Amino acid sequence: MLSIKNLHAGYNGLKVLKGIDVHVKPNEIVALIGPNGAGKSTVIKAIFNIANVYDGKIIFKDKDITNMKTHQLMKLGISYVNQGRINFGNLTVEENLTIGADSIHDSSVVKKNLDAVYKKFPVLKERRKSLAYGLSGGQQQMLALGRALMHKPSLLLLDEPSLGLSPLLQKQLFKIIQDLRDDGISILIVEQNAKRAIEMADRTYVLEDGKIALMGGKDIVNHEKIKSVYLGGRY
Ligand SMILES: Nc1ncnc2c1ncn2[C@@H]1O[C@H](COP(=O)(O)OP(=O)(O)OP(=O)(O)O)[C@@H](O)[C@H]1O
Ligand SMILES: [Mg+2]
Repeated sequence: MLSIKNLHAGYNGLKVLKGIDVHVKPNEIVALIGPNGAGKSTVIKAIFNIANVYDGKIIFKDKDITNMKTHQLMKLGISYVNQGRINFGNLTVEENLTIGADSIHDSSVVKKNLDAVYKKFPVLKERRKSLAYGLSGGQQQMLALGRALMHKPSLLLLDEPSLGLSPLLQKQLFKIIQDLRDDGISILIVEQNAKRAIEMADRTYVLEDGKIALMGGKDIVNHEKIKSVYLGGRY
């Protein structure tokens, strides 16, 4: 599905990622964890052509998508929800959602996708005429996710969607993410909470200082490093 090979990336000459390999197979949830500043968001930004790629390749469904323009990536079926659930506060919920589908020119398809999002998030339907800034944190996150789903992606890139949500809302969100995977969407997710990430993901990569320090399935939770650094001690 997605293959990142020997990726070196950063910003205006600043090297953040120093040769990383990350793979997401069809129908997989893959998590990226690691300390603040490790480069987790940069991985997702490099895929979505927001960070600079200096070396390496990003392959999506056998196609080289390195440096491809954002709207082309979206057309290919990749969606991105950035850190900090950014919505257009002065637009209504429904306007935010239809903006997410602006690359789709057939209005009946937009309507169909909108209905699918409302079915998944009934609260967005209830609040469809409300301005986005009036939504609660959890509703904002659903709106950001809903907007990303408007053009039916097959790969979803999520950067810390649980940030700032209560434990209960986090739980609901992770359930939704797992449902999306069951619907056939592959997911690459950056998550602060190592325990939750490992539990939810099929595979987890630990990123430290721009390099992959560790990778494994759910049993990675028993790894000494994970136990001491990410689950117990200082992280
Ligand atoms: N737009 C940018 N311009 C310049 N440097 C940036 C930019 N975005 C991030 N950086 C730098 O790149 C490094 C990695 O940042 P990144 O956002 O990928 O970290 P992260 O692992 O997502 O951290 P966090 O857990 O805090 O979100 C940091 O040193 C950061 O200061
Ligand atoms: Mg980040």
